[in-house]
Amino acid sequence: MTEQIHVNDITATPVRTLPDAQTVTAVRHWTDRLFSFRVTRPQSLRFRSGEFVMIGLLGDNDKPLLRAYSIASPSWDEELEFYSIKVPDGPLTSKLQHIRPGDQIILRPKPVGTLVHDALLPGKRLWFLATGTGIAPFASLMREPETYEKYDEIYMLHTCRTVAELAYGRELVESLKDDPLIGELVGDKLRYYPTTTREESRYRGRITDNLSSGKVFADLGIPPIGPATDRVMVCGSLALNIDVKEVLEGFDLREGANSDPREYVVEKAFVGDGI
Ligand code: FAD
Ligand code: A2P
Repeated sequence: MTEQIHVNDITATPVRTLPDAQTVTAVRHWTDRLFSFRVTRPQSLRFRSGEFVMIGLLGDNDKPLLRAYSIASPSWDEELEFYSIKVPDGPLTSKLQHIRPGDQIILRPKPVGTLVHDALLPGKRLWFLATGTGIAPFASLMREPETYEKYDEIYMLHTCRTVAELAYGRELVESLKDDPLIGELVGDKLRYYPTTTREESRYRGRITDNLSSGKVFADLGIPPIGPATDRVMVCGSLALNIDVKEVLEGFDLREGANSDPREYVVEKAFVGDGI
């Protein structure tokens, strides 16, 4: 249902009617390409951690300019968090990157997605594989109690070009153990394996190469991925997703879906140029 509310649009044009408006409560810029923000949550919105919604602003023609965004906050959070790229000439993010607390955005309250617990068969170890902003759905799932209730070990693998681009994920992971709501559940179950591909850091290299070579398993001191124990969720560019699928199929894992749970699930972090 579309709620009609009179608001001040962030483009600073006069009061106008914005459908499904939510108010920005916080904004944080991580790099010149990345920022995160929080907005009020519609009372009626129920979602499963890992799902995405359509959010946006009014475009120049007064029509909503909407894009898919993973909800980065967990299903129990009273606000909604998003983690966003800034595309210099991007129709939405060239404007969205300038939002401030008190501004309003459009949020269509129809969550969907495949990166949900229901799409995986029960297992012992859960792997989150992300590049870039693909960590957003896992920022939600890492704060979801069900993640720790269902699995003994959780591995968060995040690959970016540079160390600075890892900061959002790193800070979140580091905050979890002391989180008053979920810290006890997380305990030592969550292990974080960040890598960079274009700058020196503790761990280097692409997720795909580090999984195929066995480097990840050697570095973490654990057995390789196998269908009896391991479940995997993937979120990255189309190219990454295609390449990771091949690696996972090589470990004898099969792709699942909401209607057909199996050993791994994949979602695009964004739709690339010409795709
Ligand atoms: P667009 O015209 O949408 O994109 C222009 C170009 O920018 C694209 O062709 C691509 O090359 C590049 N690009 C777009 N998004 C990204 C990105 N995230 N990382 C790197 N390059 C990108 N984006 C987020 O920032 N955070 C999210 O949580 C998120 N979740 C998504 C979930 C799904 C299921 C899908 C399909 C997309 C998601 N996106 C997310 C991408 C998002 O929908 C927009 O593409 C993005 O906000 C840019 O919008 P735009 O209008 O500025 O540029
Ligand atoms: P690389 O630097 O080797 O291209 P981007 O910023 O272009 O979205 O990429 C985010 C991260 O994903 C980068 O570290 C990049 O590594 C990595 N990456 C891009 N494409 C692939 C792929 N097909 N397989 C594995 N990693 C990839």
